[in-house]
Amino acid sequence: MIKVIFVALAVFLFTADSKALNNKDLRALYSKGQAHWPAIQTSDGRSVEPMSLLPVASPKPEHVALGDKLFHDVQLSRNNTVSCATCHERDKGFHDGRTTAIGIDEQIGTRNTPAIFGIDQWQHFFWDGRASTAEQQALMPIENPIEMDLDPKIALARVNKDKSYRAFNKSAFNSSTLTTEQMAKALVAFERTLSAPNTRFKLFILRVKSSPKKAVMQLSDNELNGLHLFRTKAKCMTCHNGPLLSDNKFHNTGLHYYGRHFEDKGRFDATNNPDHIGQFRTPSLLGLAISFPWMHNGLFEDLTGIVSMYNHGGARPRPRKNQLNDPHFPKTTDLLIKLNLTKQEQADLVAFLRIL
Ligand code: HEC
Ligand code: HEC
Repeated sequence: MIKVIFVALAVFLFTADSKALNNKDLRALYSKGQAHWPAIQTSDGRSVEPMSLLPVASPKPEHVALGDKLFHDVQLSRNNTVSCATCHERDKGFHDGRTTAIGIDEQIGTRNTPAIFGIDQWQHFFWDGRASTAEQQALMPIENPIEMDLDPKIALARVNKDKSYRAFNKSAFNSSTLTTEQMAKALVAFERTLSAPNTRFKLFILRVKSSPKKAVMQLSDNELNGLHLFRTKAKCMTCHNGPLLSDNKFHNTGLHYYGRHFEDKGRFDATNNPDHIGQFRTPSLLGLAISFPWMHNGLFEDLTGIVSMYNHGGARPRPRKNQLNDPHFPKTTDLLIKLNLTKQEQADLVAFLRIL
């Protein structure tokens, strides 16, 4: 009995000691600055963009002022009830806090509203990437029957009739009326001023260049280990990399509900290519706490569940009996692999995700 206690005590002391040492080593390593951090690990061995601060855009203030007014104007919807800001709310980081969006006549959409920031960094817009420029994107919600349901030409006619716009139009485009292109341009100018929420991660990335030691001091042991895991063993940066923590690409992580009630074919909606069924654009993880609930359909409310899903190598739905011969049954990407993270490592990863 005494022997067992002794062994248990020795094991406890040993692991406690080696854990403290690990954390100390990790702190020392990360305190040396990003160039000295351990190499990023990806699941296919590719090298990817490191973490960096999202650049700040500086569009013409006159375009921004006009765009701000348009963004908050309910005239752009059929029955004057919905503006862009109805779903992209300023005090919620331009997100709506809902599972899926609610548009005109209280219609419920199928996708989770993304927060708006880093507009110049995206190469495709929407979860399925169906808009390839921000200007093209800006007019689409106006036309969307479940969002604002108005022909953009009619929206433009309303704006051009409204005297309160004259001065804004004049200083932005030196004309008292606008074209649809100018309306889109102004909306985008406003969006370009929106930056990712001021989170502890943003502060960390800001500081890590000038005083890495101080930056690392702001992280708890768990958060620091989470950062390390995110970059290495958990291989998150295979897809969540660069200033947005998104590779701007489309992947099938297995959440398409193909053939089921919540089915969303994702990228396929934009390309009609059956190989793209179930793929979604990698979302930015900046301001993750604010973009709750998560994923294209907002069905995930728990970061621990998300990390556990990745630990298992992503969601891998099996075809039902009637789908066995379906050649288009979507296959989860090979970039997701079993991670073998311990419970503690999963908790540390979650601690890091919370500060993003
Ligand atoms: C009814 C709610 C609703 C309204 C109104 C709305 N949006 Fe959105 N917005 C969404 C949803 C939901 C998505 C994601 C849709 C998808 O991916 O299919 C989105 C996506 C976007 C994106 C893409 C972001 C990204 O990361 O790709 C931008 C930019 C945007 N909206 C701007 C606007 C502008 C500008 C307006 C007004 C003209 C507007 N939205 C009106 C709900 C709304
Ligand atoms: C193969 C590329 C890939 C890898 C690797 C990957 N992700 Fe993702 N991630 C995605 C895609 C694509 C989505 C959106 C899926 C959807 O909505 O159906 C996503 C969504 C998320 C979301 C929800 C974000 C939101 O705003 O809705 C979180 C959180 C997340 N990933 C965290 C992680 C973590 C942590 C890791 C590492 C363990 C990781 N991801 C690895 C591609 C990837």
